[in-house]
Amino acid sequence: MSLARNFNLMDFRAGAKRRLPAPLFHYIDGAADDEWSLINNTKAFEHYQLLPNHLRDISKVDLSTKVLGVEMSMPVFCSPTGMTRLFHHGKELAVARAAARAGVMYTLSTLSTTSLEDVAAATAGPKMFQIYIFKDRELTREFVKRCKDAGYDALCLTVDTALAGNRERDKRTGMIMPPKLTLSSLASFAAHPHWAMHFLMNPDFRLANVVHRVDAIGGGAMGLIDYVNSQFDRTVTWEDAAWLVEQWGGPFAIKGLQTAEDAKRAVDIGASAIMISNHGGRQLDSAPAPIDCVAPMRDAVGDAIELIVDGGVRRGTHVLKALALGANACSFGRPYLYGLAAHGEGGVDRVLQLIREELERSIALLGCSTISQLGLKQVASSSSPLESRRKRLT
Ligand code: FNR
Repeated sequence: MSLARNFNLMDFRAGAKRRLPAPLFHYIDGAADDEWSLINNTKAFEHYQLLPNHLRDISKVDLSTKVLGVEMSMPVFCSPTGMTRLFHHGKELAVARAAARAGVMYTLSTLSTTSLEDVAAATAGPKMFQIYIFKDRELTREFVKRCKDAGYDALCLTVDTALAGNRERDKRTGMIMPPKLTLSSLASFAAHPHWAMHFLMNPDFRLANVVHRVDAIGGGAMGLIDYVNSQFDRTVTWEDAAWLVEQWGGPFAIKGLQTAEDAKRAVDIGASAIMISNHGGRQLDSAPAPIDCVAPMRDAVGDAIELIVDGGVRRGTHVLKALALGANACSFGRPYLYGLAAHGEGGVDRVLQLIREELERSIALLGCSTISQLGLKQVASSSSPLESRRKRLT
């Protein structure tokens, strides 16, 4: 399908499925256990309706906003996704360049296949680095210094990944990183010649940010992945997060929070933003949809911190609902990866263009011309029986 025949974000999913060997497509597309959270992340937007006001001057629409100290042309940006080289040889650079062209922030994963320095050198657009607190605190400290030196605008600590979620699709497809040309993968590679050709010509699947550490311990490609897995630390607490906020000293997001209680703690340690997220359903299955967490978290923290809805966002109307409920912005992962896998850098451009067009059209139809005009009066919800019961009891 030609690029122009993709009329919405999910149209790119089919193209990604055609282009990628099955294990790689399902690595993007899949999630944990029964994938209930993955499905519910998008479905939950249906609990909310947008209430339009008419007969207003909507001749000029301005979607611009500021999040984490960064000016953006619209309230949507790119979440961090590891190992982008798996899906396209343009790697993280293609996504970062497209985000910069669109005037939105790109978040680089620690587990990227391009180094944070190379991404910084390739684009002057706004950039955030996604970090973990590793067992080896020296490695975390080293990342903070490198991000400062490279001029990153913000840091984002992911807190929902102390251990890996149960991704059953990856087990079924035999997903391995980096991909290997084996007898069983041969047929799948042959069926996806475009991807396979670039795989053979440029098999550059290194975890570029940590590769020097593994060279130091003498491991190969698997040694690298084993090293990273062995570095996830289950003892990390709020004290460690507070330590990192202090080390960084700039705009700081915590990614993976979903409750009012945790939102208050994020405020207490001086974080600037929360990315409300269940990791796109890839970690704890049955975790609530981020959109359903906005109102209780906003009620708990007032205006003390920015809230970003991360997960399930596929339409401009989803972004409007999130903002009307009290979020400052949204972010997404799979949509731009589908775009990248299906059509390379141009696919990411079109994903960002489509969400912008949807936002511009829908905000005008809602009767608003700037995002600061969005608020609770534009959104209605059919609240769940459990919520009604809670309200009766309190
Ligand atoms: C992710 N995500 C993720 N998050 C993170 O903090 N560090 C990472 O390295 C990754 N890697 C990653 C890889 C892939 C293939 C996917 C699909 C996701 C999670 C990501 O940042 C984001 O939370 C979700 O993608 C949001 O859900 P949607 O937009 O994909 O529905």
